[in-house]
Amino acid sequence: LAANTASRVSGRTRLPLAFVFDIDGVLIRGPDVLPAAKRALSMLEGNNAFGMYLTNGGGVSEKERCQKLTEKLGFKIEPQQYVQAHTILKSLVHKYTDSPVLVLGSKLDQVRQVAADYGFKKAYTSLDVLAWNPSVWPFHHLTNLEAAATKKVDFAQTPISAVFVFHDPRNWALDVQVICDVIQSGGFIGGPYIPMDKQKNPPELVFCNPDLVWRSDFDRPRLGQGAFKMAFQAVFKALTGSEYPYVQFGKPSCATYNFASRVLSDRLQELGHSGPLPPVPYSTLNHRSADNPESDIAGANAANWQSVLVKTGVYSGGPPTHQPTHLADDVEEAVHWAIARER
Ligand code: G3P
Ligand code: MG
Repeated sequence: LAANTASRVSGRTRLPLAFVFDIDGVLIRGPDVLPAAKRALSMLEGNNAFGMYLTNGGGVSEKERCQKLTEKLGFKIEPQQYVQAHTILKSLVHKYTDSPVLVLGSKLDQVRQVAADYGFKKAYTSLDVLAWNPSVWPFHHLTNLEAAATKKVDFAQTPISAVFVFHDPRNWALDVQVICDVIQSGGFIGGPYIPMDKQKNPPELVFCNPDLVWRSDFDRPRLGQGAFKMAFQAVFKALTGSEYPYVQFGKPSCATYNFASRVLSDRLQELGHSGPLPPVPYSTLNHRSADNPESDIAGANAANWQSVLVKTGVYSGGPPTHQPTHLADDVEEAVHWAIARER
């Protein structure tokens, strides 16, 4: 919420109240829409408020996810108001446009399509690696569908420059094995292992979601991409004696909240708040409704956003590990509380 009304006026118009919603555990749980979600979103209209969506989910294009969320929630959700775990990679693609990169974390080759939309021209999957040489991981045989989604690549001649874990890997064992092969052989899968300190350009490793757990429709939170990262690092350390350096995006990383703030600022301009906004850090214009103290509340608090923790997701009671501005039963109560405070 804005610190004071002065900071909420830009020129003659009153800046809208911006809600930045988390998705899993706040609006939906797995395939199901939470009952309070539609009531919460209907409160935005008519209260000079608008919503943005900031999720550690992903695996498909922003356009496809927004279409599915619009159908589920019954409210139009545009890519311009939606940031998912790997959206931030659009700001990184220039470093790797023509370099072979490994992209992980989706069914078949969906994540390759997303990477190609971002501008990665040589994005390969761990299924491509298995199609190239099935003995890389002898415990998984490609299904016909998987084989049809692979590209023909000779990885002995195609050095991988970077590994991007876009979304939650489907075959942890295969993906851990392939990342270890790529990193230990300086990018050439199957090549001789080269000690880290002897590698001129060791492959960059980027994770897009640190969530150890997340809330789906099962009664207990499920392991997320953060758990995959820990599994990989434990194996890599057992093999080489140390963990591998990596870049971490996703909530609660500062990079992701800054990226979301820029998206929000663009949205405010689109809504007619043209020109420089009052020198209020966007953070105080935002309201963050979230379910996971470790990622959502920690990130919102660090970004100086007002945060509301709801009880419909990962958090299920007791003192939260990160203190929210407000604790609400569900997202409807969260929005109601924020709007009432603003009046
Ligand atoms: O894989 C998605 C999960 O880690 C959390 O999604 O929407 O709660 O940030 P969300
Ligand atoms: Mg969540």
